[in-house]
Amino acid sequence: MTILVTGGAGFIGSNFVLDWLAGCGEAVVNLDKLTYAGNLSNLASLQGDMRHTFVQGDIADTALVAGLLAQHRPRAVLNFAAESHVDRSIASPGAFIQTNVVGTFALLESVRAYWGAHSEADKATFRFLHISTDEVYGSLGTGEAAFSETHRYEPNSPYSASKAASDHLVRAYHHTYGLPVLTTNCSNNYGPFHFPEKLIPLLIVNAQAGKPLPVYGDGQQIRDWLYVKDHCSAIRRVLEVGKVGEVYNVGGWNEKANLEIVHTVCSLLDELKPRADGKLYKDQIAFVTDRPGHDRRYAIDARKLQRELGWAPAETFETGIRKTVKWYLEHPHWVEQVQSGAYREWVAQQYAA
Ligand code: NAD
Ligand code: DAU
Repeated sequence: MTILVTGGAGFIGSNFVLDWLAGCGEAVVNLDKLTYAGNLSNLASLQGDMRHTFVQGDIADTALVAGLLAQHRPRAVLNFAAESHVDRSIASPGAFIQTNVVGTFALLESVRAYWGAHSEADKATFRFLHISTDEVYGSLGTGEAAFSETHRYEPNSPYSASKAASDHLVRAYHHTYGLPVLTTNCSNNYGPFHFPEKLIPLLIVNAQAGKPLPVYGDGQQIRDWLYVKDHCSAIRRVLEVGKVGEVYNVGGWNEKANLEIVHTVCSLLDELKPRADGKLYKDQIAFVTDRPGHDRRYAIDARKLQRELGWAPAETFETGIRKTVKWYLEHPHWVEQVQSGAYREWVAQQYAA
């Protein structure tokens, strides 16, 4: 038995592959383009593990994907591959349309051809699991109910619009062709291997480098945080027992304003790695120009996943954020290695003002 994972060298994909192989013997074929966000070092502990086959390539390359499907005969395809950073989608949306929309379409076509040639029994057990985001639902006002699976789609950024388009394609392939799909829409993840362009790892990395801790606008935007390993356990649960054609929202009921996140990270760093000059990390906070079209609040109603599939997160925000800060402090080489020239160029461009 084998599964095909796309985007398995990125933040969530690599955590998923590591957890999967730690928990079961089933082989993983890992297809990743290795964009700036893909890091093979995330998977270094799998070196020599025959259960893991890494292939560098694009989900939009239908010849490559058809060959992989024919060769490895996976029982499921899990699609993590995406362009994932909202700010980059504002600066350069084209890559988001290409991978998230065109790429997902191409992958669906390859999978449809592969699945269509199966016996009726194997068709029924095959799964295509699409990993998506809460951002497709748009922004919530204060006091509005958290996003349920039936909340209307109202994506506001090129990133969220491209993910919404991919979700619609996945849904259509089930409705029209009967492809056995599952979709998960998750809130903000954090944890090991999170690329330091995103808020939490950027704060940890900048704080230690003595750089400003950039807070967009008034810092009162709210995100709903989930430790990445809990997202991975939710995906495994949905793959095992999720109902075909259904959507499952994934979240940890951890709504926090950005400024609260910044203060929490600063306090943990003050405790675990105090500044040499005796000052506090919060002195490095800098309010900067807001993100255009910045969504004010996300919140996930994860009751369906809990009620129907019995999933619950293992970490609270307090335990998860402490583990995360410690992980970054214990892995300076990983941090150094992902801060390539391309990373430094992005930071210089994004925070120029
Ligand atoms: P990431 O940017 O860290 O990783 C994406 C991975 O996909 C990288 O390894 C990259 O090389 C690969 N990739 C990009 N384009 C590709 C292509 N055309 N073909 C093959 N591989 C390609 O992203 P992430 O944070 O790990 O997110 C993974 C998935 O989860 C995405 O679909 C994202 O929309 C979704 N998601 C993320 C979060 C979050 O908080 N990070 C929350 C909910 C959902
Ligand atoms: O909600 C799920 C989404 O969470 C995923 O679909 C995306 O792939 C993922 O990147 C994430 O999107 P966000 O835009 O919420 O994450 P980010 O870490 O970029 O920003 C979190 C919040 O912090 C957001 O309100 C913007 C703010 N922010 C971000 C950065 C990078 C700052 O205030 N300063 C910053 O420098």
